[in-house]
Amino acid sequence: MTVTAVVGAQWGDEGKGRIVDYLAKRANYVIRFQGGDNAGHTVINDFGKTVLHLVPCGIFYENVHNIIGTGCVVNPQSLLEEIAHLKSIGVSCDRLWISSRAQMLMPYHRTLDELEEQARGADTIGTTMRGVGPAYSDKATRSGLRIGDLLQPDWLEARLDNALKTINRKLTILGGQPVDGREVYELLMEFRLQLAPRIVDTAPILRMALEAGNDILLEGQLGVMRDLDWGIYPYVTSSHPTAAFAPSGAGLPAGSLDEVHGVCKAYSTCVGDGPFPVELHDEIGKLMQDVGKEFGATTGRPRRCGWFDGVAIRYAAWLNGMTGLAITKLDVLDSIETLKICTGYRLADGTVLTDTVPDTSLLMDAQPLWEEMPGWVTPTTGCRSWAALPVEARNYVSRISELAGVPVAYVSVGPERDNMFGRGSPALVTEQ
Ligand code: GDP
Ligand code: IMO
Ligand code: MG
Repeated sequence: MTVTAVVGAQWGDEGKGRIVDYLAKRANYVIRFQGGDNAGHTVINDFGKTVLHLVPCGIFYENVHNIIGTGCVVNPQSLLEEIAHLKSIGVSCDRLWISSRAQMLMPYHRTLDELEEQARGADTIGTTMRGVGPAYSDKATRSGLRIGDLLQPDWLEARLDNALKTINRKLTILGGQPVDGREVYELLMEFRLQLAPRIVDTAPILRMALEAGNDILLEGQLGVMRDLDWGIYPYVTSSHPTAAFAPSGAGLPAGSLDEVHGVCKAYSTCVGDGPFPVELHDEIGKLMQDVGKEFGATTGRPRRCGWFDGVAIRYAAWLNGMTGLAITKLDVLDSIETLKICTGYRLADGTVLTDTVPDTSLLMDAQPLWEEMPGWVTPTTGCRSWAALPVEARNYVSRISELAGVPVAYVSVGPERDNMFGRGSPALVTEQ
């Protein structure tokens, strides 16, 4: 039995979806522990290419229970659309459950997300506009509604009336239109009809699963650099993609986590605003964007691209207590002759940081320090073992592992389910 968290080790979009799809084969449960439909987790398998937003990436296996956990914010409308799409391509959603304690993302949260971004003027965060920030904000101020409220119409109606007193004031101040409580209530009653059988109290279910020795995967959304506390605040999401939050957001005891797999690309990407010291504005950045198809899976926005950030990975590895690295998109670097890795940040006052990311205002002026490594200039997508990789690719991956201080568990060399392999017993030494 193992409880494994799969978390983003960079700025999001590292390939968490494809890693969870690969690992879920052996799982009994896959639980999304935070975030909302701001996620775009791409999976390519026998069902073709699917981008999942709320549904956990274990959904493609009929024997796996998939839970949208308590730490999530759930937009019922987009969840229903996602379920309909999955069914249309032949994926069974019979084992999809939603924690009754998960927050409900309401239609007015999306409106507020847009109005709040507009109100920020030039200093935007670059949110996905899915209403995630306003939904978590209502959770924290205790005016949120929970998915389980759908099962108690009287309670729901009273909670909604109460919430709308503040929401309608906010909407009006920001230049929007107040919402009609009756209309929202009726919409929620439609969601209730369709979602009620999936709404569960996860506590007894997961307690039994743990006691039965089941294999449980905890699927994170986004990455540590966008964590509400540890990321580049305020250019962050409104929840915690780090592994410490995984058991809590999923509904498991703190000590239940056995493994933490940090997923990172072999280079860096970021979508949205904020400092990104390793960003490239040249033809190599363009090549990464073209070859890696670096466009947001949820919003379609072009992703900013750059060299691998060895400082961010040390920080991410330590904060997450990573036990293994899953390195994706190695193949995207196949044609580059000389690769660079950022191994330090020089701050404006001359201080050099190698294993910790400073606060955002300092990071804004940080200059990356580079190390160069020879590329392999050979296609790697056909490789299915560590030994099959060119020696330069093995050295590059080993260097990432050395910087992180974490062994490599998996290497991915293409987007399809079988385009990856386990690293086996890793040696953190450079081969000649
Ligand atoms: P997530 O949000 O972390 O699940 O990642 P996304 O799905 O947003 O972005 C990862 C993108 O990279 C998707 O388009 C994947 O199909 C693709 N991808 C994942 N692993 C690999 C890989 O090893 N090689 C290549 N070329 N593409 C990959
Ligand atoms: P996955 O799970 C990449 C970014 C947004 C913005 C910031 C806050 O696919 O890795 P939000 O809508 O959460 O309030 O936006 O976070 N962001 C993502 N970037 N991948 C995602 O999800 C993201 N979800 C949010 O671009 O900078
Ligand atoms: Mg994504």
